[in-house]
Amino acid sequence: MDEFKLPLKYTTKTNQFILSLIFLLMPLWAVILPFTIGLSLNQFFQVPIILFLFFLVLLFIFLALVFEDDKIIMTRHWVSFPLFLIPRLKFKREFAYQEILKADIVSDLPNKEQIVLFFNNNLNLTMDLKFFKNIQEIEQFLLTIEICAKNCERSSNLIEYQNKILIAELKDNTLSYTKLWDEELNYRFCPTNFQPLTIGARLRNDQFIVLKQIAFGGFSAVYLATNLNKQEVILKEMVIYNFLTPEQVIKVNELFRREASILAKLNHPKIAKILDFFVENERHYIVLEKIWGENLRLKIRETGCLDENLIIQIAHKLALILDYIHGLNPPVIHRDISPDNIILQNNQDVFLIDFGSANEIISSATRTMIGKKAYISPEQFKGKANKASDLYSLGSTLFYLATAQEPEALTQQELIKFKPNCSVFLNKLIKDLTNLDYNKRPLLNDVLSKIDSVLNDLA
Ligand SMILES: Nc1ncnc2c1ncn2[C@@H]1O[C@H](COP(=O)(O)OP(=O)(O)O)[C@@H](O)[C@H]1O
Ligand SMILES: [Mg+2]
Repeated sequence: MDEFKLPLKYTTKTNQFILSLIFLLMPLWAVILPFTIGLSLNQFFQVPIILFLFFLVLLFIFLALVFEDDKIIMTRHWVSFPLFLIPRLKFKREFAYQEILKADIVSDLPNKEQIVLFFNNNLNLTMDLKFFKNIQEIEQFLLTIEICAKNCERSSNLIEYQNKILIAELKDNTLSYTKLWDEELNYRFCPTNFQPLTIGARLRNDQFIVLKQIAFGGFSAVYLATNLNKQEVILKEMVIYNFLTPEQVIKVNELFRREASILAKLNHPKIAKILDFFVENERHYIVLEKIWGENLRLKIRETGCLDENLIIQIAHKLALILDYIHGLNPPVIHRDISPDNIILQNNQDVFLIDFGSANEIISSATRTMIGKKAYISPEQFKGKANKASDLYSLGSTLFYLATAQEPEALTQQELIKFKPNCSVFLNKLIKDLTNLDYNKRPLLNDVLSKIDSVLNDLA
């Protein structure tokens, strides 16, 4: 893959002023002065004024070169700063990311934020964020630091600032670092990082034989396998990518174990049972009961949006499962209710899978929560999930079932705008569930009783 090169514009007011001045004075330094020098070349070294003019021309050329350069260039391995900034960096222009020790955002006045980079050998550089071209370029700058400068400590101010931009961009749907992320994701998820099990692989003393791989994403690979009784089971393997920091590896491990331990405590006919949990050749596996059917995302891709009655029935069944997990002591919050994690069987039964809440680690590892962000409530996005967060995700999932469109992230969904002939009931249900304020979302019991009465009317 080609090395990525990200040029970001950084132009200060002084910079612009000097450039305009040089431009205005161009006839003088580019034409009149050389002409005068040319005419007087004979007496060149005798007349100090000519010498002065000559240096004046050189000075203008030099200034034009320095101030015309307004690009911060970022690659995967180094960052280089515009020439006019390098006097503050002891005339060093290019820095490897290992040399960046800390990044912070400071602001004396509101909307006057500055980013401060601290390098080794006691160098530091302060840049006004307002001199960047736009907010997207600031985000790209900060994101590249986050991804590439692995040793760089990012202050809490900076993380908060980045989250602020990200949430604003998600809200306005102006998330713009697509290119960077495409490359980044290719790079991170390159297959060499992880070798999936091959067909026929045997595990746990031949107890399980892999039949095929059925999914790969997040932090797991999912296989279909058979057990000793020739029954089909699901094998879910934890995947550790080598780009993860040691803390993130610990977190992935923790979430994988949490998934196993939560599943072991659950006992519900619509939640896949855990059959085994083991580590072999340093690889971690969960064995699950196989649920027949297909996940709702695949279903919608195949058939388009669902009939409203079926959606209301699915809503009812999901609400019952949520009622069960939320009613446990301590309550279990699923944290990842989305079409991929719900299996529909025979167009009627609904099963909830994936208690690994991979989105939590995806969020801290890549911050984009690819394909997931649309289902995550604002409070969970900020790291504070509660029972009502599952209701927001349920509402967004219902919106997807009704429209076959990915819901807009962090938005209260109004189905009627997309489906003018939808029922008042479903529109209100989705709207209430996706209220951005979790205190204003309905309680699960109320949701259940309202759906019950609608289903009774339909029957
Ligand atoms: N118990 C199961 N029965 C049938 N299919 C399953 C089961 N568990 C997972 N899958 C399939 O594998 C996919 C990924 O599994 P999931 O547990 O959601 O992993 P991830 O954490 O990677 O999202 C699901 O969308 C579903 O299609
Ligand atoms: Mg999943």
